[in-house]
Amino acid sequence: MKKLELITCRKVYSVVILGLLLLAYCFACYHTGLIDTRLVIPQPLARRKNSTDGPPVEDAIRTHVFQIGDTARSLYSDTLGKLPTNPQYHRRWDVNCSAIFAGSERVITSVSKQLLQEQQEQSLMPSDSKVVTWTNDCTLYKKQRGYPTTPNSDEEAGFPLAYILVVHTGAAQVERLLRAIYQPQNVYCLHPDSKSPREFHQAIAGLANCFDNVFIASKLEDVVYAGVTLLLTNINCMKDLTGRSASGHPWRYVMNLCGQDFPLRTNLEIVGQLKAHNGQNEIQSSVPDKRKSRRTEFKFILRNKSIVRTKSRNGPAPHQLKLYSGSAYYAVTRDFVRYILSDPVAIDFLDWTRNTHMPEETYWATLQRAPGVPGGNYRADPQIRPFSVRYVLWYTRASPHKCRGKYIRRVCVFTIGDIHYVQQQPHLFANKFYYDYDPVSLQCLEEALEFRVRHSEESDK
Ligand SMILES: *[C@@H]1O[C@H](CO)[C@@H](O)[C@H](O)[C@H]1NC(C)=O
Ligand SMILES: *[C@@H]1O[C@H](CO)[C@@H](O)[C@H](O)[C@H]1NC(C)=O
Ligand SMILES: *[C@@H]1O[C@H](CO)[C@@H](O)[C@H](O)[C@H]1NC(C)=O
Repeated sequence: MKKLELITCRKVYSVVILGLLLLAYCFACYHTGLIDTRLVIPQPLARRKNSTDGPPVEDAIRTHVFQIGDTARSLYSDTLGKLPTNPQYHRRWDVNCSAIFAGSERVITSVSKQLLQEQQEQSLMPSDSKVVTWTNDCTLYKKQRGYPTTPNSDEEAGFPLAYILVVHTGAAQVERLLRAIYQPQNVYCLHPDSKSPREFHQAIAGLANCFDNVFIASKLEDVVYAGVTLLLTNINCMKDLTGRSASGHPWRYVMNLCGQDFPLRTNLEIVGQLKAHNGQNEIQSSVPDKRKSRRTEFKFILRNKSIVRTKSRNGPAPHQLKLYSGSAYYAVTRDFVRYILSDPVAIDFLDWTRNTHMPEETYWATLQRAPGVPGGNYRADPQIRPFSVRYVLWYTRASPHKCRGKYIRRVCVFTIGDIHYVQQQPHLFANKFYYDYDPVSLQCLEEALEFRVRHSEESDK
């Protein structure tokens, strides 16, 4: 009897699992466009339909991205964009990225094997001290690496962006990220961790030194996980971006990234997305659950280089702010930055969050919902999970794709087995990539971006 039950049970399970798999497959096909094996950039999951503080942006975003999707359709049918390469900087792997984006198991397996083998012999990433030498001759370096010297389009020239890059390791990967997002009309604040090794600082300084629109934050923090310092790195850069370091640069939106992020979209595509926001910020924000509420309920302090909980409770947030929870990563307007740096509510709240756990996940999300905040969503639905800036594959998140790389603190580090899926996400950036773990993923994403830049230039003419 028991056995029979077990068998029936198994059967039921199998049917359910099969059904789920089928659903997941359909979902994946629909969203990845794998049905016709060509790249279709999916419509972003913008859900900011009824924000009463701003116009609905979903339709605008959808229209824009649909156009990009059209121009990118031929991606798989041809070779990708070959970047100007010079082995003196990054090694160019002889791989077929089109096949990797098409999810070809044969190619993915053989390249993975090669990567694994070579990793055992040497680091796949150039050392920080090597990167220091790259920028000895800025003119040569920028030319050989193919840094753009003029905006790719009028649309981009008229909508300059600012970036905050909080980095601590792997100067070669930082350089690759910078090259991927670099445009002469944008401005970049680099924040190397104050405790990073000397060569790393030298390499980052070398990079900043080569560009008028790239600078190092005037005040550097020693970033401690879960402490207020990560938030402060952003505030420091915001001050610089509106101050003398950026010398009146007219940037419209600022985004923050870390050294393990990589763009999935070209500058033109990013500009299109941000324009469609019509002056609204892109900040995730939802009502904190019980676990997240504990981050602000008690006081947390720095003890022996880590953040620990104390027994004393935090008072209520100042100015009757209602607490929300979200992400450390955002795209926000210049007016929002002005508000953060000058409004007493924002300043008092920053002070209050100092003694909370991971304040960066409370600070932006809460202010986004406060009344009168530029680009904010006061009176919006309790959950704002708009199309967001950055794609992260969490260990716990139900996803039609399973991480093929490795998990670091429950976050997937992508490999070439993942990027065909990652590339289909509607986000502007993805996290995490490790250069020395899988340099080919970065190379293929670069080629895809280069291809689309070139394609959009051609269609401009
Ligand atoms: C959202 O806005 C649309 C159009 O303005 C309206 O028809 C709809 O009822 C609104 N939905 C909610 C949930 O408020
Ligand atoms: C690369 O892969 C694509 C897709 O699998 C294929 O169509 C193309 O022929 C390949 N190119 C080379 C040079 O092997
Ligand atoms: C501080 O932390 C280090 C490493 O985690 C440990 O070895 C050391 O004993 C700690 N010191 C104190 C005073 O707790």
